Amino acid sequence: MHPLDPFGFGAPGYRKHARAFDPRDLDRDLRGLTVAITGANSGLGLAATRALAARGAKVWMLCRDIGKAEVARSSVTGDTSVARLDVSDRASVRALDIPTPDVLVHNAGMLANTREDVGGLERTVATHVVGPWLLGTRLRPATTIWVASGGMYTQKLDVAGMFEPPGAFDGVTAYARCKRAQVVIARRLGHHAMHPGWADSPGVETSLPTFHRLTRSILRTPEEGADTIVWLAATRPAAPAFWFDRAVAPEFVLPWTRHDPAQEDVLLARVAEAAERP
Ligand SMILES: NC(=O)c1ccc[n+]([C@@H]2O[C@H](COP(=O)([O-])OP(=O)(O)OC[C@H]3O[C@@H](n4cnc5c(N)ncnc54)[C@H](OP(=O)(O)O)[C@@H]3O)[C@@H](O)[C@H]2O)c1
Repeated sequence: MHPLDPFGFGAPGYRKHARAFDPRDLDRDLRGLTVAITGANSGLGLAATRALAARGAKVWMLCRDIGKAEVARSSVTGDTSVARLDVSDRASVRALDIPTPDVLVHNAGMLANTREDVGGLERTVATHVVGPWLLGTRLRPATTIWVASGGMYTQKLDVAGMFEPPGAFDGVTAYARCKRAQVVIARRLGHHAMHPGWADSPGVETSLPTFHRLTRSILRTPEEGADTIVWLAATRPAAPAFWFDRAVAPEFVLPWTRHDPAQEDVLLARVAEAAERP
């Protein structure tokens, strides 16, 4: 076990877990399958776009910056289209006009250093929770995949703390709370959720420079980080679950992060209310 990688989140863990993968799972023709991926111009979203388009899937790249999206798209072989979507902006979500995809991947993500409000919500919760919820209610795909994070293991579900971060803003805690909420929402709505481990992406390098410097030698490639997204989209397991490296993962590793189940109803009501605001 690598000292920096006790949970197998890095590349050594991926290689170990990949020994159990069935290579035939991704050896398939995905023509006829439509997948919409938010934040598809970078990191894991771009890697998933490439892998799915290479197998014949039609991929809608839902990106907030059309210029960046078109540059990324030019590096992809296969059937792709770009549509503008700022998932933190409810007006942008409502303005999106694409056909219902078979699979929707809530991949767009960010980690803020300072508190910023968008449309009356803190940016982290607007981007990871409220925007994706609204997008899902509008697109209504058959299969939904939430790209969460192993960072959520550090946080208990805290609905009030997520919507109104108390005290000095801590972007890492805000991020982990939202990722915890994503996994709860996914389970409650019958969606899949996964976490990618630690993958080298532009987002990790710019948002967590010290973490990136310390762990660079063991980070996964974006393709390795995106592997379970691609596998879920391609195989669409019937039973929704929280996944890591193509296997069902526990929702809790630390006993004090378990929450009162009643909090889940509070979360769903609060998110639905926030998503319906103008
Ligand atoms: N890499 C890891 O080790 C790791 C670990 C755990 C979880 N994750 C999760 O994996 C997902 C992908 O992250 P990544 O590492 O690939 O990071 P990344 O390279 O920074 O990619 C994030 C993508 O999300 C987009 N995005 C951010 N805010 C958006 C918004 N409001 N509307 C639309 N798109 C938006 C970004 O667009 P711009 O290019 O325009 O900024 C970018 O395309 C995230 O949900 C992240 O939390 C990653």
